Amino acid sequence: MSERRLLLLDTATETVAVGVAHAESSGRVVVLSDVSRVAPRKANTVLLSWVLEALEAADCAIGELEGIAVGRGPGSFTGVRIGVATAKGLAHGLGVPLWGTSTLDAIAWQAAIGGVEGRLGVIGDAMRGEVYPALYELHGGRARRLTPDTVAAPEAVAAQWGAGEDIPTVLAGNGLLKHHEAFRAQLPDARVLTEELWHPDATGLIAAWVDDRARQGWGEGDPATVLPVYTRLSDAEENERARAGLPQADPPDSGVAAASDGPADSMHSTVEGVDGVWLRPLRATDIPGILAIEDASFTDAWTVGMFTDELNAPRRAWFVADSDGAVIGYGGVALLDDEAHLLNLAVDAPFRRRGVGRALFARLSQQAAVMGALRITLECRAGNQTAIDLYLAVGMEQVGLRPGYYSDTGEDAVIMGGRAGVEGELPTPARAELPPGDDRYLLAIETSCDETAAAVVTTDGVLVSNVVASQIDFHARFGGVVPEIASRKHAEAIVGVIDDALVRAGETLGAPGVMPFAALDGIAVTYGPGLVGALVVGLAYAKGLSLATGVPLVGVNHLEGHIFANVLADPLVQPPLVALLVSGGHTSLVHMPEWGVYRTMGETLDDAAGEAFDKVAKVLGLGYPGGPVLSRMAVDGDPTAIDFPRAMMKSGDYAFSLSGLKTAVINHIRHEREAGREIDVPDLAASFQAAVVDVQVSKAVRAVKETGAQAFCLAGGVAANPSLREALRAAIEPLGVHVSVPPFHLCTDNAAMIAAAALPRLRRGEFLSIDADAVPGLRLDTT
Ligand code: KG4
Ligand code: ZN
Repeated sequence: MSERRLLLLDTATETVAVGVAHAESSGRVVVLSDVSRVAPRKANTVLLSWVLEALEAADCAIGELEGIAVGRGPGSFTGVRIGVATAKGLAHGLGVPLWGTSTLDAIAWQAAIGGVEGRLGVIGDAMRGEVYPALYELHGGRARRLTPDTVAAPEAVAAQWGAGEDIPTVLAGNGLLKHHEAFRAQLPDARVLTEELWHPDATGLIAAWVDDRARQGWGEGDPATVLPVYTRLSDAEENERARAGLPQADPPDSGVAAASDGPADSMHSTVEGVDGVWLRPLRATDIPGILAIEDASFTDAWTVGMFTDELNAPRRAWFVADSDGAVIGYGGVALLDDEAHLLNLAVDAPFRRRGVGRALFARLSQQAAVMGALRITLECRAGNQTAIDLYLAVGMEQVGLRPGYYSDTGEDAVIMGGRAGVEGELPTPARAELPPGDDRYLLAIETSCDETAAAVVTTDGVLVSNVVASQIDFHARFGGVVPEIASRKHAEAIVGVIDDALVRAGETLGAPGVMPFAALDGIAVTYGPGLVGALVVGLAYAKGLSLATGVPLVGVNHLEGHIFANVLADPLVQPPLVALLVSGGHTSLVHMPEWGVYRTMGETLDDAAGEAFDKVAKVLGLGYPGGPVLSRMAVDGDPTAIDFPRAMMKSGDYAFSLSGLKTAVINHIRHEREAGREIDVPDLAASFQAAVVDVQVSKAVRAVKETGAQAFCLAGGVAANPSLREALRAAIEPLGVHVSVPPFHLCTDNAAMIAAAALPRLRRGEFLSIDADAVPGLRLDTT
């Protein structure tokens, strides 16, 4: 084992474990410092200061670290993600390897090194009345694991352990706090270790890491590929499985249904040349349709059980080609370190030779790249020339031959390999040499809701790259954003998205390769408002990156970002101005008398405008998100067909109320259905939209007049609504006020707008400290 100085982190339990250790080539390890302490729900605020403390105590400069090991849990979902995201930022910024290790293993090793002998049962608290159990054999200062990761009821675990062959003699773990009785009842003779040994510390982490290396080798240590251990799916996924009548999932290593999505322009990637076909992630309910194609396509067809397991297996990406709700093709890849392997790819016979297979392959390859794969490999029957031609056409090469590989026919397998990514163009991992010049840059990161986004601007405000990895497909099947899934996807995608933004920045500047962090003057990140579990991933990563690179951190309010989408595109947007903020979570009128000063004039008392669009679309069965589809349908409808209420239009203030309108629309739909009349969806969409637009416009006009603003700007996801854009222009421009609407691609969440909002703060030297936490309810007025 080569000499290494490692940073050790674990935030899966109430203890924030931080230490520095030295692994010597003899295999001996020396813990140089350990500052592990109990800090419930404080991981995000204390972790980096404790890292500095541990480094100082170890007399080690941050730049001297040669690797990082982080606990992957199982434990508190948010807790683990904070540790993993911070560690990713640190490792990415330092350019050192990152390894994940099991929190439960660390606890077992700590006990073994402390001299505990015998059979140890570690019981982690899994919340909701469940535990994460694991059994170990401890002997001579070593721990050997006997059982895989799982989640179960404490009574069931205790009963199983009590009745099994490996009855534990010793117990530890924070699950004992709540479930002590259950274990004492079944294992009355077991000794319970002192509470200090229920959580990992630096000694346990380094020992578990050394054991991992001995058993698993060094691997790539790629920060993109280290992910939390989840063992259970999100509730939304469990419910979906139950509805589809599928068995309970086997505890997966990381319960992510599929991988995160690619850039925004491929949100619902359509298949060129095949009308109405689009690609989306695999769902549980697709499996019956897939089986029919599978059986017709292969002599060694996969079974329902094999597909079901894939759905929840870790580090997988599966996509289907969907034509009017029917699956006509599918494919999946598995990731191992930085290589993706194509597991399966098939297209229904009537749709073959139309580019569906090629599109599926490209989508999977791109997804694999987002998840950290550099290469993609596959094997294919030597006799299947159509398939071989397809793969050659997308830039794959034959790299080997496995004689007699297919047992059913004795056919040879052709092994093919190529670069992961969109048809051959893939980030070169080497850092770029930037062309000479005085330009300095700012990297911005946005993870407040369901888009993992990164962008690079020059400090003069020129956008040089803008990458949005949308998760929308993964939420669409649940009819809205599922917070737990959003957090998981951000943790999966963050490193890949940032690298992509840095590579594209290099490309724009004519310097191929990854833009070096040394070219940055600032790292900006959204710290609120938004989903707390989603915000912390971007924030923890950004803080780690900032500490590792020494580049200062700028915190941005997401809503300020939406306003600055206008500033980025339109130099005439100057204060004093009024902004109408309309998104899925907000509807408000904001007065900005000067740069950086915000006064909220009024906001919605109930639903936000985007939310109203989403709910109406849901009732009509039009899917999620509802805004884009409703505004498209409204084009063919008559806005005066149905007279929906315009709530608070004449209230004399700037408050909005949209829930009454939503209810009126839902009642109208019910009424028409009961009367046996067919609903004219375009007329309904147009009439609903007109009611929303009328109120927004009338209040915006009054706000502009009252404040004497010189400029007006529209901001937020609903700013993409063409009817609202036109109506505002038509009403406000005649007042001699400059009206700005953001370009369509900057309306929905992105990091370019976060970068734009960060620049004035960077210039003013307003920085965020490394103990900053996410503020899910952050308001503009206090920003
Ligand atoms: O700003 P955003 O991307 O996310 C939030 O911060 O909420 O806004 C998303 C919202 C969704 O509710 C979506 O339905 C709505 O913006 N939206 C639209 C349109 N495009 C997106 N609403 C109306 N018309 C549109 N064309
Ligand atoms: Zn937004």
